[in-house]
Amino acid sequence: MRYPLLPLVATFAAVVTTCASPPTTAERAAIAAGRGAALYQRHCAACHGPDGDGDTAVAHFLLPRPNAFRDGLFKLVSTTNGVPSEDDLVATLRRGMPGSTMMSWGWMPEADLRLLAREVRRLAVRGRAESIAATAKLAGQPLAPDQALAQAEQQLLPGPDVDGNVTVPSGADAAAAGARLWNTHCASCHGEDGRGLPGHEGLPTDGTWLWPRDLSAGWMRGGASLRELAFRIRAGMPAAHMPPSRLSAAETALLANHVRSLISEPTADHHVQWRRTVRAVRVARLPDDGDAAAWAKVEPVRLPLAPLWWRNDAAFEANLRVVHDGRTIAMQWSWADATRTDRPQPGMAMGDGLAVQFAQVQDPPMFAMGSEREPVNVWRWHAYDPKATAGMVDLMAMRHSGLDVPVDVRPPASAESIELGGAGSAPSATGSGLPLHVAREWTDGRWTATFRRDLAARNAHEVDLAVGTPVLFAVAVWDGAHDKHAASKAITTWHVLALQ
Ligand code: HEC
Ligand code: HEC
Repeated sequence: MRYPLLPLVATFAAVVTTCASPPTTAERAAIAAGRGAALYQRHCAACHGPDGDGDTAVAHFLLPRPNAFRDGLFKLVSTTNGVPSEDDLVATLRRGMPGSTMMSWGWMPEADLRLLAREVRRLAVRGRAESIAATAKLAGQPLAPDQALAQAEQQLLPGPDVDGNVTVPSGADAAAAGARLWNTHCASCHGEDGRGLPGHEGLPTDGTWLWPRDLSAGWMRGGASLRELAFRIRAGMPAAHMPPSRLSAAETALLANHVRSLISEPTADHHVQWRRTVRAVRVARLPDDGDAAAWAKVEPVRLPLAPLWWRNDAAFEANLRVVHDGRTIAMQWSWADATRTDRPQPGMAMGDGLAVQFAQVQDPPMFAMGSEREPVNVWRWHAYDPKATAGMVDLMAMRHSGLDVPVDVRPPASAESIELGGAGSAPSATGSGLPLHVAREWTDGRWTATFRRDLAARNAHEVDLAVGTPVLFAVAVWDGAHDKHAASKAITTWHVLALQ
């Protein structure tokens, strides 16, 4: 599994180097736009759609749904007319949207984030132009395409910024005043405690399900600084049901301060899906699987998880401890799961489980599980394995209907290492993998799964792990009691694994 060059970088370099004379400004703009479009197709189209219509196969598995850019409606804006500025879009890309599968793209250079923001805007303008043209045609006054485009450009021009520079007066009065304002203006949707009122769940707009979040858990899609909160309060969240307000700067400050006081611990940050670098510490001797004391000495890294289909009680974090001894790597994952699901039950597709995918390109697309040209190596473990227990589900069903059938199911003791070349390639690969050592244990509402493998790949389909060659990895966690099919799981973004 080795790829010499990223295809995108390769084509870009080819364009630049084949130009005999230095490119003109217009040529540079065209190359940049081409790069923006290519970046978008590689990293965003799987969820947001090649045309930005948000109607993708993946989108049906996601709650919240990926935005349809063609509608021109956004949530995170700082302008008086609700149209995001380029800076708003870049800020969203840099941060991601905690509490959803919209990850942080902050690992990309600033220039690429700007190109992506412009591509998002281009898709929004094009979508708006098409609907303007369609309406005009219906009204019997058809418009030329460039007229429709000009009107769309005009409508989606970001207005002036709302003022986000607010300062909170100090003193106990400020807290009390903030709470009073909150109860008057905000509690009707958010509840006094900020946990969201039950009746306000699932307010459909364009078929998108929305609900006021449990703010106390720190789910701030647009950030939790005073300035960012001031933007939300003053500009509203147009694509959500969050109205803009005409509150004064002083009131806005008091409210932003109050929102911050609702967040119970400094959670806002650890929900953010930015790319972390995880160092596998080199040790003289690997801790034994069951040696909790030895493992406890290894510093864990907390990796935020995003459930594809939002649930308040999903696992939002996986703890990873990883060490190597120069020959073997040991990776210990631990995550919350209130119910141990490791026996087949009628109506249940799979047991609890965890899969780690590895990629050796620098910019693997999110959510693609590799492709034919850029396969990924996946280490997966399920607490029960439907294929290993084939027929068992039927037996269990017979048992449930009162028939006395002997059933003895034991969760498999091993995991497997497989190569995937795209989301659709998983089923055919089932069972074709190499066995992988895994030790697993469920105690007190948590799973711990420890994988071990030689650093060196065992065949051409496996990831080769070596000091000095970082690889990217992402993880998916299944909760058998809730996740009814392979695509319902909680995922992380791509992180870097570097061996010490
Ligand atoms: C795994 C699926 C996924 C991928 C890949 C993805 N997004 Fe998103 N994106 C989402 C979801 C889901 C939302 C809605 C989040 C929410 O409402 O909380 C979203 C929202 C957005 C928004 C809306 C922000 C707003 O103010 O409403 C923008 C802009 C955006 N994404 C841009 C991008 C770009 C650019 C890329 C590629 C670099 C990308 N996304 C890749 C899932 C994805
Ligand atoms: C009509 C109902 C409604 C009212 C009134 C309302 N909100 Fe919201 N608010 C929402 C919804 C819905 C969301 C979630 C939108 C989403 O994330 O999709 C939200 C989200 C938020 C967020 C989260 C922003 C983020 O970055 O994720 C904050 C903070 C917030 N509201 C503050 C306030 C404050 C302060 C007030 C009073 C001035 C207020 N809201 C009034 C419905 C409301």
